Amino acid sequence: MKTTETTAGRYGEAFNESVKDPSSFWGKAAQDVAWKKPYDRVLDDSNPPFYKWFPGGELNTCYNALDLHIEQGFGDRTALIYDSPVTDTVKKFSYSELRDRVARVAGMLQGLGVKKGGRVIIYMPMIPEALIAMLACARIGAIHSVVFGGFAAKELAVRIDDAKPTVILSASCGIEVKRVIPYKPLLDEAIKMSSHKPEKCVIFQRPQAQAELTPGRDLDWAELEKKAVPADCVWVKSEDPLYILYTSGTTGVPKGVVRDNGGHAVALKWSMKHIYGINPGEVYWAASDVGWVVGHSYIVYAPLLLGATTIMYEGKPVGTPDPGAFWRVISQHKVKALFTAPTAFRAIKREDAKGEYLKKYDISCFETLFLAGERTDPDTYFWASDLLKVPVIDHWWQTETGWAICANFRNLELFPIKAGSASKPVPGYNVKILDSATGKELGPNEQGIVGIKLPLPPGNLPTLWQNDLKFQESYTNAYPGYYFTGDGGYFDEDGYIYIMGRVDDVINVAGHRLSTGAMEEIVAQHPDVAECAVIGAEDQLKGQVPIAFYVTKAGVSREPGEISAELVQMVRNQIGPLACFKSAVSVPRLPKTRSGKILRATMRKIADSQKYSTPATIEDPTSLDVIKEAAQTIGYAK
Ligand code: COA
Ligand code: AMP
Repeated sequence: MKTTETTAGRYGEAFNESVKDPSSFWGKAAQDVAWKKPYDRVLDDSNPPFYKWFPGGELNTCYNALDLHIEQGFGDRTALIYDSPVTDTVKKFSYSELRDRVARVAGMLQGLGVKKGGRVIIYMPMIPEALIAMLACARIGAIHSVVFGGFAAKELAVRIDDAKPTVILSASCGIEVKRVIPYKPLLDEAIKMSSHKPEKCVIFQRPQAQAELTPGRDLDWAELEKKAVPADCVWVKSEDPLYILYTSGTTGVPKGVVRDNGGHAVALKWSMKHIYGINPGEVYWAASDVGWVVGHSYIVYAPLLLGATTIMYEGKPVGTPDPGAFWRVISQHKVKALFTAPTAFRAIKREDAKGEYLKKYDISCFETLFLAGERTDPDTYFWASDLLKVPVIDHWWQTETGWAICANFRNLELFPIKAGSASKPVPGYNVKILDSATGKELGPNEQGIVGIKLPLPPGNLPTLWQNDLKFQESYTNAYPGYYFTGDGGYFDEDGYIYIMGRVDDVINVAGHRLSTGAMEEIVAQHPDVAECAVIGAEDQLKGQVPIAFYVTKAGVSREPGEISAELVQMVRNQIGPLACFKSAVSVPRLPKTRSGKILRATMRKIADSQKYSTPATIEDPTSLDVIKEAAQTIGYAK
């Protein structure tokens, strides 16, 4: 196998150094970051699997993202472009303007008693104030936890109870194409449900819907910001948390991924130059949401750490107003690279297969399309690259890693692209394919569990929020010495990786990571349901969507259609509309092994109309026919 370690050239050199001498490699990268106090060493690996990057160092991420560029004479450069087709707004902020707003909001938080290490939950739509809020927390050393706006109150409540914020920052509403979605009722309900109560909620009132403020608890953002005294940067330790971002695990309890300050700044700045090929002053657009890791890393932190211009887009790829929306933004703001999810391109293709809308715009500024969040299927890859005539780079990563594990490189070496592959391991990530039973490393074209040899590079999660044990259980116990990614896949003979999907109960719906286990917990709460299984079935637009099979309790004589509708509503209410949980079907029994394990993988194959074999351990082989028939009634297993 031509492994990455034997590849010559700039990439091979960087990769080899990064795995053989990580301290040397990342020590050089760290020179690009401004440190208040230099670190004692690059990597502390004395307590595996807990690693510390740049211990002893002190810095401030907000300083590096804003003040540093202003001090270097770039205060007038555009830092942020807010482009909101849903409110018909385009607004630009220079680095100086953005710093001034951030400093004021940071002062506002200090005025409310938020201190270094304190937590602030941010539950906001895609408006500049969301980015300002994140940087304001970073400025004063507070830890933010952003919760995606499409989550229901219960999901917000779980995060409030885990992060225990003193303050929640929110807005009166979000806008979904033409629908105004009031946020305050969701926030109020979440606080009612949570055991931990925040002291204050600061609400940004948008003209599309005014929220009624709860006296004594809620405050008006604009009034408070006006009165606030701008705050200076508070220096933090390299390993102090910058943020907590919750992500779906295999159960209903989300995992609080922690990000440090030092390693994060070093890794993201390196990635902007080497993976994305962006220079300071250029325009980079991640069409995601600040509620997801892509939004954290590539709408907010990485472009600003580099001194580039970032775009905050409050809209969709289609419908705001048409499938030319992305081309309009690229052309209007001179975007050099776009990062989005393949599902966005499938949505555009569905409405404009011939790319007629592209003809209206000059996108000669555009150099690369980056896709992630789910595997880029070859159809979408070929459609996008034929249309745009620029490299279309599929890169693979996770909330936990914070930046790409495997990618192609605009400014290291651009390898020939292979459709369906996320190309090669990024320097710093010693990716190995492991045999699931023995943990032994496998060779080319052998499919197994994708593991990463420890230590993970800077920017990756050092642990889970106040839960070292769960960190070990989730990621490092299964294959000692490796980080368990939860994904299956293989390398081909040229060292290209193919990620074939999760090996656990996590599914990917329109690039959003969700837990089928969490949905099963909700379905099982229904008084008429005896047992259930939720699986991710293939969907042409969203990649996967959840579907539920349930068995009713003995004696239940209600119409199954009624129960199914109630289940759909329950998941919508408890997880949120983003789950796209729209199908549930009643079955007389579920397929199980003789030891009682539900055969979810076989059910998934049936729903996806794939070939399947009857597992030898099955208790009742006819139960698979039952699933096939039921799946057909809801449009699957054709
Ligand atoms: N606040 C409130 N509700 C939200 C929301 C938010 N921030 N985001 C999504 N929702 C709701 C939607 O309104 C929709 O509700 P509905 O069931 O009442 O129609 C539901 O959640 C599903 O939303 P979405 O997945 O966005 O589906 P869609 O059909 O509206 O749009 C796409 C489909 C493909 C255009 C859209 O999923 C998309 O743009 N995806 C890109 C994904 C992405 O950026 N992922 C980030 C990883 S890089
Ligand atoms: P999230 O933490 O929400 O970013 O989701 C991470 C998961 O999404 C990964 O574990 C993969 O299963 C999937 N994923 C993300 N990007 C890709 C990609 N480029 N190719 C294949 N799967 C991907």
